[in-house]
Amino acid sequence: MKIFITGAGGMLGTDLMRELGKTYEVSGANAIECDVTDYYRVSEVISVQKPDVVIHTAAYTDVDGAETHHERAFKVNQEGTRNVALAAREVGAKMFHISTDYVFGGAKKMPYVEDDPPNPLGIYAKSKLQGEFEVQKHLQNYLIIRTAWLYGKHGDNFVRSILRLAQTTDTLRVVNDQIGSPTYTKDLCWGIEKLLEKDITGIIHLTNSGSCSWYEFALAILKYANISNAQVLPISTTQLRRPAPRPYYSVLSNAKFKMITGYEMRPWEAGLKEYLSS
Ligand SMILES: NC(=O)c1ccc[n+]([C@@H]2O[C@H](COP(=O)([O-])OP(=O)(O)OC[C@H]3O[C@@H](n4cnc5c(N)ncnc54)[C@H](OP(=O)(O)O)[C@@H]3O)[C@@H](O)[C@H]2O)c1
Repeated sequence: MKIFITGAGGMLGTDLMRELGKTYEVSGANAIECDVTDYYRVSEVISVQKPDVVIHTAAYTDVDGAETHHERAFKVNQEGTRNVALAAREVGAKMFHISTDYVFGGAKKMPYVEDDPPNPLGIYAKSKLQGEFEVQKHLQNYLIIRTAWLYGKHGDNFVRSILRLAQTTDTLRVVNDQIGSPTYTKDLCWGIEKLLEKDITGIIHLTNSGSCSWYEFALAILKYANISNAQVLPISTTQLRRPAPRPYYSVLSNAKFKMITGYEMRPWEAGLKEYLSS
């Protein structure tokens, strides 16, 4: 199976290149090599590679920045995704599109399943949902994979921020009223590999199992990293005053993934422990 990855220089893209490259023939392009907002370039690159599967990870991912850069967010996350979908269709490739838990509004309070109605709150979330719609509009052979709260070895993320802050401050204030599922990019790659082996289309949720607040996540990071000099204090979302609204609850149900593949995603704590020890 030949796989082509967009956003290959990003946090998830880098891990996918390495992890899937162990089993499959994998190629990819970063933002400079293949700007997804340039339809002709995307079409050219994908037609040269002729993959069986395109995994689209490239995105405008600055959740707060999107609130002031609406146009850019939609350009990359909606138009860019449309371009990738059209290029995949031209070569008859299946498209795996990476989407987000933030397409949900957070009112549910129990794990979201794939056909729950989306209700994106911020611009990033709205642009990602439009990306999902573009995939559904232009392709039949696609899988939209919604994931959440990613951290990995090759990008800035919450785990890195907490470890960095713990070196310079003795009191960290972290929000305690947003609940989600921290997901290690390597575990997500493992799950994606299981899905590559299945002939399914549509939408699927895929995160590490279990859930916590950002505050509980921060406590676990310090505990597993054996850092005891810093104290973590819980604060509310309103106290933090971030530009983008975020769902208070965005846990995704992995039940469909388990039903289709027969596998379970491991608990987020196990992923975090491995990340911190490797
Ligand atoms: N991080 C999370 O917590 C999270 C949660 C749920 C879903 N997701 C989704 O997971 C996917 C991967 O996210 P990530 O965390 O790996 O993000 P990331 O590290 O920011 O990777 C995204 C990559 O896309 C590239 N990119 C931006 N604009 C582009 C363009 N016009 N053309 C081509 N490439 C472009 C970026 O390149 P530059 O850095 O050079 O701009 C970056 O390398 C995204 O679709 C994201 O929406 C992420």
